Amino acid sequence: MDDKLIFEKSSNSRIAYDFAEYEHKYALSDKYQRKEELLFPEVSELDVVRHFTNLSKKNFGVDEGFYPLGSCTMKYNPKINEELAGLRQFNNVHPLQDEKTVQGCLEIYYNTSKLLEEITGMAKFSFAPCAGAHGELTGLMVMKKYFEERGEFNRKKVIVPVSAHGTNPASAAVCGFEIAVCNCVSDGCVDVEMLKGMLDENVAGIMLTNPSTLGIFEKDILTISKLVHKNGSLMYYDGANLNAVLGYVKTIDMGFDIMHINLHKTFSTPHGGGGPGSGPVGVREDLVKYLPNPIVEKKNDKYHFVYSKKSIGKVSTFYGNFNVVIKAYAYILSLGKEHISDVSRLAVLNANYIKESLKDEYILPIDRHCKHEVVFDGIKDHKVSTLDIAKRLLDYGYHPPTIYFPLLFHETLMIEPTENESKETLDGFINVMKKIAHEDIEVLKTAPHTTIVRRLDDVKAARFPKVKYRDLL
Ligand SMILES: Cc1ncc(COP(=O)(O)O)c(C=O)c1O
Repeated sequence: MDDKLIFEKSSNSRIAYDFAEYEHKYALSDKYQRKEELLFPEVSELDVVRHFTNLSKKNFGVDEGFYPLGSCTMKYNPKINEELAGLRQFNNVHPLQDEKTVQGCLEIYYNTSKLLEEITGMAKFSFAPCAGAHGELTGLMVMKKYFEERGEFNRKKVIVPVSAHGTNPASAAVCGFEIAVCNCVSDGCVDVEMLKGMLDENVAGIMLTNPSTLGIFEKDILTISKLVHKNGSLMYYDGANLNAVLGYVKTIDMGFDIMHINLHKTFSTPHGGGGPGSGPVGVREDLVKYLPNPIVEKKNDKYHFVYSKKSIGKVSTFYGNFNVVIKAYAYILSLGKEHISDVSRLAVLNANYIKESLKDEYILPIDRHCKHEVVFDGIKDHKVSTLDIAKRLLDYGYHPPTIYFPLLFHETLMIEPTENESKETLDGFINVMKKIAHEDIEVLKTAPHTTIVRRLDDVKAARFPKVKYRDLL
């Protein structure tokens, strides 16, 4: 079979764009130059444009409308970041080039680490991990190595609260830890009394995100970190919700030792199937030596890759997703020190505005000041399920909030408006949510009515996904 036929739209000798002018531009030695021809589909430019334009119309993105997907922070990505990351000077470098020839790129790694250090108080960041969950795994590998070096091989347990993001226990398990689950009390915070009883010589650490996935700030965080440290264990911060406290609280001041940041959430780069991610891991001073190799340091005004003998090693090819780092760097610089806290201030204001506006129609299980997201437990008169509400929102042109997560309530509806949305957008969404609360049950149970595909069988969609473009026609 002709290799090209693996591409569904390929047809021999059709051509869209000639890459010849870019050949041999990389400063790479012969050893690393590609020997075989690269396999591309053979399609005309018009076919390519139509193919991707039509596919994009079948999707929904934050550039089209409100996307309040709780926990995922689907916020607008300023186009200037894309422009900068798309500069040829960045796109045409190769990770195997000599460090002398990529000083600008190393400077971006170095400077971005410095900014994150200032924001969080950590001593150094590694940009090797390519997603939040990847950052968790990397951070836990650092934790494991720390205890191995100290000969404390008994520390095999990681405590995770019930309100944790699902990736936390998963990452701990992948890293070889046993998971111990700690409950929350009625205000959504960690049950400190239960935690006290769980801490023993076998506990390596606790993984916490603050604010939690309930959007609630862990008010006992200093007590928790004191207890954990007294036990000789470490505090791991899932920094995926850093966008709620940016510029207000330094992670190190809450008592955390290791953390990751979801650059693709907090610092506005595409997220959720939208592109590559980045989950840089930051650590306190004495743990820097365990970070993945290499990290970038500056000496005599030059930037260098530095390798540590005690490092956990490599966790990804080369140096992580560089383009994501450029976007985050641009985003932080464009806000500057004076405006970085506006991100959290407005994200929190918007979430609380939605909370207060909808609490007459929707059940609010934790009625206290929330941070960047608000959790409801379905509609007050229970006439329809959260799934029905989510499906009906599609008819009104809104991406639904996250549903049935966290697992603490039966009809969870987690709304995260982000800082970018105007009051008019929020009011439009609130009005529709209120309208849905009074709509005909049959209309809600059979929604959506206006989308390309109607209500899908969720189980079948997961078991037999249609991933080819022809399946969508
Ligand atoms: C609190 C929290 N932790 C971890 C993650 C995992 O991040 P990623 O999807 O990049 O692996 C997320 C994702 O949104 C999150 O919200």
